[in-house]
Parts: sequence; C-alpha cells; structure tokens
Amino acid sequence: MKLIKLRNELKKAYSQHGKDSADIDFIISELLGVSRTELLLIDEVSARQERNIRRYAKKRLKNSIPIDKLFKKSYFYGLEFFVNQNVLSPRQDSEILIDTAIKFIRESKCNTVLDLCTGSGCLAIAIKKNCAVNMTASDHSKSALKVARKNAKLLSADIKFILSDLFNKIEGRFDLIISNPPYIVRDEIETLDREVKYYDPLMALDGGSDGLDFYRRIALDAIDHLTDQGAIILEIGYNQKQDIISIFKNYELLEVVPDLNGIDRALVFKRSSVCWKN
Ligand SMILES: C[S@@+](CC[C@H](N)C(=O)[O-])C[C@H]1O[C@@H](n2cnc3c(N)ncnc32)[C@H](O)[C@@H]1O
Repeated sequence: MKLIKLRNELKKAYSQHGKDSADIDFIISELLGVSRTELLLIDEVSARQERNIRRYAKKRLKNSIPIDKLFKKSYFYGLEFFVNQNVLSPRQDSEILIDTAIKFIRESKCNTVLDLCTGSGCLAIAIKKNCAVNMTASDHSKSALKVARKNAKLLSADIKFILSDLFNKIEGRFDLIISNPPYIVRDEIETLDREVKYYDPLMALDGGSDGLDFYRRIALDAIDHLTDQGAIILEIGYNQKQDIISIFKNYELLEVVPDLNGIDRALVFKRSSVCWKN
C-alpha cells in the first residue's frame, strides 16, 4: 500500500477522535525503524507492515494508551528513556527543571545533587549527563526505582539510587535538591485524561486532599539535607505557586520559573538564615 494513503487515512481518524495526528508519524517511524524525515522518502509499505501500523494505531485510539507507553520509550531532554506502567511518563514541561538545575550547578560550586521522587530517573539522568556532579536519586516505589536503574544503565549515568519514603532513608547534605513530587489534588485524579489516570501510577499523581502534602513534608525536612548555600528546585502545579511559597516561608525564594507556555512551573528556594525549627 502507498504509505501516503495509509498515513492520511489514519491521521484523519485520529483528528476525528481528538487525538494528535502527529502520533501517526511517530507510530509509523517507530515501526519502520526510520526517522520522521525519512518517512517522507518511503513510497510503499508491505502488507505485514500495514497490518502492524494499523494494529498499533488502533490500540492507541481504542485504549488511550499514551504513545510512549505503547512503545515503552519516551524522549526527554534529548535522551531516550525506557518507560512502563510503573513510572510517570516524562513531561516536556519538566525540562524547565533541568535548565534551571544546570544553570544553578554551573553558577555555584555544586557537587552533590539529590533527585527526590525520581520515577523513571529522567531528571536525575538528564542532569548527570550534562553536569559533573555526584547524583543521588530516590523513590518510594520499588518498581519505579527498577526502571530508573535500568535507564541509568542504558544511558551510562552513574547514579546512586535509594528506596526511601521522601527523606526517611536519605543521609547527608546536598548542594542541590530537585523534585517533581506528586501534586494532583486527590479528588481531581478521576477527572484527568484517560492517558494520565489509567497509565501513570496513582502513586506518582496523588498529592493528598489539596495536592500539597509532599511540599509540606519536603519543606519540613529539606533543611536538614541542604548544605549552607544549598538550594531546592521544585516542580509545581499551575495554580500552586502562592501556597507553596507560603509552605516554604522559612526558605528564601530565589526564582519563579515559567514553562514554555508561560505557566509558573518551578520554584527555586535556598536555605535562609532565619531561625529554623523552634
Ligand atoms: C510526579 S512523579 C515524578 C517522576 C519523575 N521525577 C518525573 O519528573 O518524571 C512522582 C514520583 O514520586 C514517587 N513517590 C510517591 N510517593 C513517594 C514518597 N513518599 N517518597 C518518595 N517518592 C515518592 C512516585 O513513585 C513517583 O515516581
């Protein structure tokens, strides 16, 4: 069959069902093992290739499987990560955390970094691949850590992984702590897209009754794990900035960082000199 005909037919079906028609190019290029630009050079696909392309396209359409979970691979910060149902699919919005972390690391004498709630390991690995730091990453999910370890191995990133309920098993202090913790309001999870609520683990989403449980716990304990000039970079939900700034009132707010859509997405705090725990 002519590839152009198949492509147009499937793209039309995706558009009619409100799905991004660009996914079709992703599916076809993955299955044919060519880049998106090389697709344009292909004239015909075999009957077997056509069947396969239709099968994957249908699977995504019918079950709303996110494209990265369909192929068990996700691209983040120019790197390819293995993903499965045990980890949050890396989000492009989180790349701003990496830019912010790299800037902080380059401008300060930063040697040690902790990625709390690492999931697939995408943040820790992206930083490690761009900066010469000692990297530690932790998560409370054994199965997520298995994925993170696999990614670190695949990408040759030397990272120490720790199974820990937030800071419980973390020892020592770090020049930088980054975290993208679960921050969705529990009652809102049911209203999320099927792709998120069925294919991202609940444990990666559930931020408690107001979405802020993890920030409260992090604010309480991070102080004991930051060096004197240490900073913490947090990803936040689109409407959480003021609440989180209040929760981190004992820290000094260094920066509010918007994402590519202009939504405040990351907050940078530093230890402040004010008196800590009474
Ligand atoms: C929003 S996901 C972030 C994953 C990854 N850092 C990213 O940005 O794609 C939150 C992660 O927090 C982990 N998590 C949930 N509860 C935790 C806890 N009590 N302690 C540590 N990690 C936890 C989840 O398993 C999940 O991997």
